[in-house]
Amino acid sequence: MSRRENFLRHLLFDVRNRLDYPLRQLFRWRRAGFRISPRPEVDPFAPLPAEERPRAVALAGRLVRDYHLEEFAAQTTPVNYRENLFYLHLLESALEASQISLPEEIRAADIGPSHWFYVQALAALLRWWRTPHPRQIDLQGYEIDAYRVYADLHSRYDHAIGHIRDLPGVTYIPRGFSAQPLAFHLIFMLFPFVFSQDHLEWGLPGSLFQPRALLQAAWQSLQPGGLLIIVNQGEEEHAAQRALLEAEGIPIRAAFRHDPLLFRYSLDRFVLTACRDG
Ligand SMILES: C[S@@+](CC[C@H](N)C(=O)[O-])C[C@H]1O[C@@H](n2cnc3c(N)ncnc32)[C@H](O)[C@@H]1O
Repeated sequence: MSRRENFLRHLLFDVRNRLDYPLRQLFRWRRAGFRISPRPEVDPFAPLPAEERPRAVALAGRLVRDYHLEEFAAQTTPVNYRENLFYLHLLESALEASQISLPEEIRAADIGPSHWFYVQALAALLRWWRTPHPRQIDLQGYEIDAYRVYADLHSRYDHAIGHIRDLPGVTYIPRGFSAQPLAFHLIFMLFPFVFSQDHLEWGLPGSLFQPRALLQAAWQSLQPGGLLIIVNQGEEEHAAQRALLEAEGIPIRAAFRHDPLLFRYSLDRFVLTACRDG
């Protein structure tokens, strides 16, 4: 596609998004009854190459045991199970690489959770990382486009509530994130938009694309000793995210490419963390 065609394409996306995003905010579509149907008889690791399966099965077993996910494992689909374990493994690696500790009661925010298909992993991480007794958690997911309607005529919000099930201390908040000074010990930004074309293709108006302001809002919202965990897809996005952190004067604590053993996406996942002086 030529530069001109690309420009026109994004202009059209922006015009469409400027019309239908406010409509979604006006109608706030919700419909009861979204449920995840388990299919426990399927082996979730069957699609993996034979030589990788034993390592994947052992790692999954360890995560399920350490983070008390047996009930969740029996209640979800094989793909959702694997994606949750992938997120859990990635975020566990991020905490370990950042050399921090978590308090006994923890307040955390996830910025841009979409339909929160990975909320079970987040809650389990907060509740059980390096502790024999479960922590009390207050996990808040801030989603700026919660009323997008999916093909099953349920909104993103409906799906998120379905994924949360009966997790205590977890709240899905249908609005954009704004700074709450010193409010959180941990903030997740899992695949924030770094490039404007991704933001537009996901259906948001161009005026809402403010990656530097959002990054600063997250950074200002951390308590002393609190950690920001950012995950990006692909080397190019990772490099651009690093540049954003540097431009905002946010010091990087850890940076790594995550091992895709439990779930292979078309682009590798890269992690960056930043810790506020405590
Ligand atoms: C690429 S998606 C990532 C979804 C999810 N975190 C994941 O791991 O798959 C980015 C999400 O961020 C949301 N978003 C963008 N700007 C936001 C903001 N200022 N506050 C809250 N959510 C935002 C978008 O609507 C979208 O759902």
